[in-house]
Amino acid sequence: MKINIVQSASGKANASALFFVKKSVQFSDVLSENAEKQVESVLNGMEDGPFEDLEYLEIDNQPTIFVDAAKERGLSALDHLRMAAYRLAKKASKRQIPMVSIMLADAAPEQFKSILHGLHYADYKFDAYKSKQKDAFQVTFEIVAGDQSAVFKKIAEDVAVEHKAVVLAKNLINTCSSDLTPAEFVENANTIAKYTPGLSIKVRNMKQLEKEGFMGLVTVGKGSSHEPFMITLSYDGTKSVRGTKTKAANARSSSDHLVLVGKGLTFDTGGLCLKPPKSMPEMISDMSGAATVLAAIQAIATLELPIKVSAVCCLAENAIGNKSVLPGDIFKAKNGKTVMVDNTDAEGRLVLSDGLAEAGLIGATHIVDIATLTGAMVRALGYAVAGFFSNDDDLGLKVINCGEACCEKFWSMPLEEEYADALKGNFADLKNTGSDAGAIAAALFLQEFVPENTAWAHWDIAGTAFVSKTWKYTEFGATGFGVQTLIELAREMSA
Ligand code: BES
Ligand code: ZN
Ligand code: ZN
Repeated sequence: MKINIVQSASGKANASALFFVKKSVQFSDVLSENAEKQVESVLNGMEDGPFEDLEYLEIDNQPTIFVDAAKERGLSALDHLRMAAYRLAKKASKRQIPMVSIMLADAAPEQFKSILHGLHYADYKFDAYKSKQKDAFQVTFEIVAGDQSAVFKKIAEDVAVEHKAVVLAKNLINTCSSDLTPAEFVENANTIAKYTPGLSIKVRNMKQLEKEGFMGLVTVGKGSSHEPFMITLSYDGTKSVRGTKTKAANARSSSDHLVLVGKGLTFDTGGLCLKPPKSMPEMISDMSGAATVLAAIQAIATLELPIKVSAVCCLAENAIGNKSVLPGDIFKAKNGKTVMVDNTDAEGRLVLSDGLAEAGLIGATHIVDIATLTGAMVRALGYAVAGFFSNDDDLGLKVINCGEACCEKFWSMPLEEEYADALKGNFADLKNTGSDAGAIAAALFLQEFVPENTAWAHWDIAGTAFVSKTWKYTEFGATGFGVQTLIELAREMSA
């Protein structure tokens, strides 16, 4: 796919796209009187036939694709645009149309951004494991932007950076767990840090984790032949990035330090509390949190946002081996609290206890942790909405608003104190299972490890990270959920 942003139509397009909502055209075009009449009759024919979404018709001798921008249920107006652009791109590629023009001279910047995202989503494929790689037909989209072309070009650059991050996260998540071990994840992160100006990286291996008392990762990771790692990536957009102070940092900068913490279980068998076979294959996605924070910080650094951001990836494989943690075992976490491992399948919260401790050590003012943490969250909110918990109303509101801007839905869940006692251990301070409200129990457990006086939000993306049937712009596999909202949050916090 190629995107050309032009002031006025080149006349070279083989078809033009016309977005409509119910019976009205969404973005205005200069049409002849005759063409207007033709369009009106087509839109009338959409409701009761004979026409349907993606109808391909000649209007005034110009092939025109009619795209329904209100087709699905439950989506925001911006997400409808993403979906419309996604379907348009799929159709244009399937019909092998070399160039499609979209008239967006009177579109708002957010609308243009949504259309771009939709086009990018349609361009994704994961065929690394296919024996034959098929090249999709390359369509060029000519965006007619009128006098907004300069603004739109800048937006298109930013969206390309954001989408590169989404693709990075999706590729990591979709890769088989035997190919993406914790060590392989580290390799990927090293490469990203090397080629992203302003991004530095620190990696701790098993020996260093043990020496420094990051015992959550050690406890979970010791059952596997692949050792656990903790990665800390840092970017300071308030200081110089490429030797000189960035333009953005000169203009304004925030004193916040946002630390993103990601659960990175490259595979979760459940450990000795083995998962049933049906729920196991999806556990290749149990490192989605780590992939999301890695992708987000790469984009944040590339966009040179004027804020200090770090990302902590807690990487381990929850496997069965002769050194696996046993149910009933007790370890001392980095913050000094002792934990009895009641269920070896509740491993995410154990590795995250170390990520939260690391966030405190590096001076976080705000922490967002992201994890495919509980099956309970999948049952509560399904695949379309992520649940989040926060100890800070301002941060919580920002999560919802930034999510909305990125067409990612978040629902606020309670850190219900009445359930806190259920996490008390008999011999240890805590145990890793609690009340039947499983997603809340996990969040309350994490709260025990949040550094003092730190705004914190926990996102449980167990339902939204990976889909086994088509959801919006993902046919199967990783959705990339959360990457865009994290970037938007950093943007919002730097304003
Ligand atoms: N990785 C799973 C959670 C999960 C479930 C992610 C479904 C994606 C889809 C997590 O480690 C887990 O197994 N949690 C247990 C906790 C329980 C044993 C307290 C769960 O939710 O069943
Ligand atoms: Zn588990
Ligand atoms: Zn897990």
